[in-house]
Amino acid sequence: MTRTFLIDTDTASDDAVALIMALRAPDVDVKAITIVSGNVSVDKGTRNALYTLELCGANVPVYRGADRPLLREPANAEWFHGIDGLGDQNYPPPEGRPETTHAVDAIIETILANPGIVVVTLGPLTNLALAVSRAPEIVPLVSRCVVMGGAACTVGNTTPAAEFNIWYDPEAARIVFLSGLPVEMVGWELCRFDAVINPDNIAHVRSLNTTLADFVIDCNARAMQAAFEQSREIGIALPDPVAMAVALDPTICTRSSKHAVDVETQSELTRGMTVVDQLGVSGDSRNGRLWKPVIERSNVTVCWEINVPRWKEMLYDALV
Ligand code: BDR
Ligand code: CA
Repeated sequence: MTRTFLIDTDTASDDAVALIMALRAPDVDVKAITIVSGNVSVDKGTRNALYTLELCGANVPVYRGADRPLLREPANAEWFHGIDGLGDQNYPPPEGRPETTHAVDAIIETILANPGIVVVTLGPLTNLALAVSRAPEIVPLVSRCVVMGGAACTVGNTTPAAEFNIWYDPEAARIVFLSGLPVEMVGWELCRFDAVINPDNIAHVRSLNTTLADFVIDCNARAMQAAFEQSREIGIALPDPVAMAVALDPTICTRSSKHAVDVETQSELTRGMTVVDQLGVSGDSRNGRLWKPVIERSNVTVCWEINVPRWKEMLYDALV
């Protein structure tokens, strides 16, 4: 049976790979791609999504969305993904154009028209926060909301406490996490270590000898260098494709549990931290209410572990 997806993305190098995986999945009908400011400006993200669609020979409407976070100044990640977001490989401009409808309107209309839709977010949550705030009636119509974002009880990639997508627009993330959407959090830590596309894996992708395979490696060349500068890890870390793998096949996530998860918006030190109540202490009055999050119920399913060999197989399958 065909599943319907809506993908919200700040399309840069790893987002593009995730888009390819969804567009190539035989049983997935991507109804809309909505673009948000994040890794790159919303205009560059729109251009990159259109370019990726053309590489896949796919025809999906692309909607330009929020050009800045709800309250904060934009702070892109061009140092990481390249000035154009696709590793500065001089890809030609796409022929396609975005729709004239704003992404937030498109999210609302697409969800209303497709009850049971799976929403996958690969960037900051600004568009989705605006959509659920304006039209809360869309919340029960979403069957899954797979969020690439956060770092569950672990280190962040933008600050010691926070992952980029949540750090960039913490207020939006908080709105989405508290909205009642069935959020599945796929944190940054899940794309590290064994899950990194290591030099052997890169050689394998090259050996596939397809345009898409070469694109995946080439457009992530700058990201690979930047990740090495940041963490000394060698290889290509692909957070958005890992989240897309979980969205496409929930069994890729081999260990998950549901918790109260809140997002820090007040502190500069821990801005955007995804605070996971693993022990359920927030509902325990014996603690003297030392920690008082808004949520005292489990609102987010946290993915703790993925099947690494299968995630990589899914990636390879999408490139041939
Ligand atoms: C997230 O931020 C961006 O660098 C990636 O596209 C991913 O969505 C990882 O923190
Ligand atoms: Ca992204």
